[in-house]
Amino acid sequence: MVEVYNTIAGLRQVLKQRRQQGASVSFVPTMGFLHDGHLSLMRLARERGDVLVASIFVNPTQFAPGEDLEAYPRDLERDLALCQSVGVDIVFTPEPSQMYHPKASTTVTVAKVSQGLCGTSRPTHFQGVATVVTKLFNIVQPDVAVFGQKDYQQLAVIRRMVRDLDIPVEIVGGAIVREADGLAMSSRNVYLSETHRAQATALVGALRSTSAQVDGGQRSAEALLEHARGFIGRHAPAGRIDYVELVDPLELTPVVGDMGHGGAVMALAVFFGQTRLIDNMHLGAP
Ligand code: PAF
Repeated sequence: MVEVYNTIAGLRQVLKQRRQQGASVSFVPTMGFLHDGHLSLMRLARERGDVLVASIFVNPTQFAPGEDLEAYPRDLERDLALCQSVGVDIVFTPEPSQMYHPKASTTVTVAKVSQGLCGTSRPTHFQGVATVVTKLFNIVQPDVAVFGQKDYQQLAVIRRMVRDLDIPVEIVGGAIVREADGLAMSSRNVYLSETHRAQATALVGALRSTSAQVDGGQRSAEALLEHARGFIGRHAPAGRIDYVELVDPLELTPVVGDMGHGGAVMALAVFFGQTRLIDNMHLGAP
């Protein structure tokens, strides 16, 4: 049976014992309401550690006022059953009061890669993510941690933070898991109306269609961006583009002019009503 801990002290005690027995620890941090995307990360992590820890914590500091913190979908009982089904050993599910001291005044800021893309419309988001992930790493002290590539910028921020702060953990990126029609899995997909859900496939459609342009020899970043924006405009008239960008895969800086032969990442975010969906794809040679 999966063991559940909601205090830092309780989790630390059990992990200390397991480490003393020589066990390695792999870790998947989540905000719960698990779907197949999370489960694929857990399966990846299962292979990489003796003890697999998952956290389920809807982190308030990565939501800005007016975002969907209160409405964020939650179903702990179902999540625990899913964790059990993929071999998670330990779930850490703290209350916010356990994670944040009432007078906490320390945050982690990762410059540059936190800016642009999602950082433009969510300027405080990555500071909240970097801070909570640092805290979770300090609490769990995993050997390996697995994050999804759907949140491409988040993964880049965490890799940079681990590198810059010498945090002793290996970061592994798990491939995007998609619904049968291509929509990237996300806990927020449940918010979509029937019309919005149907049009949401325009995100992956735009990425695939733009990738085909690259394979056909198109190298101009501007032409590729225009192609992707046009695709979304035609196939998702109810959508509102937050951004469509072509960026350097590591630095996340915008690609201008000829994208060269090293490839680039196209990242996009589109609102359907209040729901903001993101997706990304590597275009061209890796
Ligand atoms: O990707 C998420 O679910 C969250 O941003 C994370 C990494 C669990 C931090 O709260």
